[in-house]
Amino acid sequence: MTTPQTSDTNVDARIEVIQGDITEQDVDAIVNAANSSLLGGGGVDGAIHRAAGRQLLEECRTLGGCPTGEAKITRGYHLPARHVIHTVGPVWRGGEHGEAELLANCYRNSLALAAQHGLRTVAFPAISTGIYGYPLDEATAIAVRETRAFLATHPDIEHVTFICFGPHAYQTYLRALGR
Ligand code: APR
Repeated sequence: MTTPQTSDTNVDARIEVIQGDITEQDVDAIVNAANSSLLGGGGVDGAIHRAAGRQLLEECRTLGGCPTGEAKITRGYHLPARHVIHTVGPVWRGGEHGEAELLANCYRNSLALAAQHGLRTVAFPAISTGIYGYPLDEATAIAVRETRAFLATHPDIEHVTFICFGPHAYQTYLRALGR
């Protein structure tokens, strides 16, 4: 068992940032930026459902939706990822409606669910920064802060990848990680 000190120091070694398509990631779980119905949508949600196939929607239908900030897990079906963790980010409404805490909860609850299921590798998109309009800099700071905090006390999660769909998000994540 590594002491918190050592796990703390190797936290950033377990975090990777890449530009790419989350549907192509061969990891234990990819995280989907879903909406509260969990019945699919546009953006990364649409891409994941298209790549996973209709069985994903069939399983999502059994979940009864998901409140903002919470997360639910399904199988990955035709995706290379074994599982999809569906989380619902906050819609940006100016920052005075608890958006920061709700977004932080998305990362905490997704990682907690991965740990509960014994998963070791997880890939995140930039939750809420697309259709939901969350400013990228603030959202990235929350993603990095919450992931570092979780990895510091959960050595069983071996690797977290932030998948950036474009160069702007990629540079923002690298800057947020001091790279
Ligand atoms: N791989 C990785 N990232 C992606 C992909 C992809 N294939 N497609 C889009 N993204 C990125 C976007 O560029 C953005 O940075 O995912 C981030 C989140 O954007 P959205 O998918 O728009 O998600 P969000 O802002 O959380 O809005 C959620 O959109 O798709 C609907 O059903 C979803 O209603 C919900 C809303």
